[in-house]
Amino acid sequence: MDPTTAEDSSSGANSPSSSSVPLTVDLSASEAGKLQNNGGYIIKNNVVIAKNLEGKYVAATVICSHEFKKKVVFKNNEFFCGEHDARFDQNGKGLNSKGSKGLKIYTTSISGSILTVSA
Ligand code: FES
Repeated sequence: MDPTTAEDSSSGANSPSSSSVPLTVDLSASEAGKLQNNGGYIIKNNVVIAKNLEGKYVAATVICSHEFKKKVVFKNNEFFCGEHDARFDQNGKGLNSKGSKGLKIYTTSISGSILTVSA
């Protein structure tokens, strides 16, 4: 329910597949190994799921708002796109000009060893 896609024709037939939530990650499974360390992240269903340096789980779309490259990762306690170095804080706020359109952030919650990421 967000008006993010103002489809301005630029993406045409090759529009980016979207991130799909809700999704769950079993934190005790091998897929979540990198989430055991603060600062680690994994990518699942086009969602970057990270454990920040405070030990809290955060999640955002892997699709950058700059030119829609699927290059967003978690780095230095921020979301970062390696294509042109867009930077976003953990609330999705752009931290430089390439990141000025912000980043879609998802909600995380934990029940037992299951991390749920939702819109
Ligand atoms: S596409 Fe991400 S910074 Fe340009």
